[in-house]
Amino acid sequence: MTRFTLVLPALFLLFLLASALPAQQNSGATPPKTSIYSAISVEATRQPNPVKSTPESLARAKKWWTLDCEMCHGKDGNGKGETAKDMKLTIVDFSDPATLKDRTDGEIFYIIKNGHEDMPPEGQRVKTEENWDLVNFVRSLAKNKPEAAQGN
Ligand code: HEC
Repeated sequence: MTRFTLVLPALFLLFLLASALPAQQNSGATPPKTSIYSAISVEATRQPNPVKSTPESLARAKKWWTLDCEMCHGKDGNGKGETAKDMKLTIVDFSDPATLKDRTDGEIFYIIKNGHEDMPPEGQRVKTEENWDLVNFVRSLAKNKPEAAQGN
């Protein structure tokens, strides 16, 4: 009898946990368009971008984009670069403002620096400031930027 009364609340708790988990991962009805980068720490996600998105910053980034990114992400960021085709990669479209709207600059910085799955890390190839330039550049590829994506 005492054992039974303990088991019931425990089961109830388990049930609560199980039902809360999937809701946390994806609250909307549609699955997320971009992949989940669970390895990115809250700290990295919240890191503010110290580099303003000026024409100078974008010009610096353009150099690296052409060298290290364009072959996969495409010149205009549509995700249809030559290497992407060769490797049969499915890559998100940066010209669509919805693609990066839920990403913080800190997250994008982390992804560029550390890579993810089929995307190679930029690592020490670029200086920290240039890594932020690339964040600005990737954001600048969005056409008709939504209001919400400005300045975060
Ligand atoms: C070998 C091809 C390749 C190269 C080179 C490459 N990427 Fe990627 N990139 C990918 C793939 C594939 C993904 C999706 C990764 C995944 O599966 O989550 C990706 C994802 C990203 C994302 C995250 C998109 C999202 O889901 O929000 C960003 C930002 C990004 N790349 C920027 C860059 C930048 C900047 C460069 C150059 C410094 C670069 N990439 C170079 C293939 C590449």
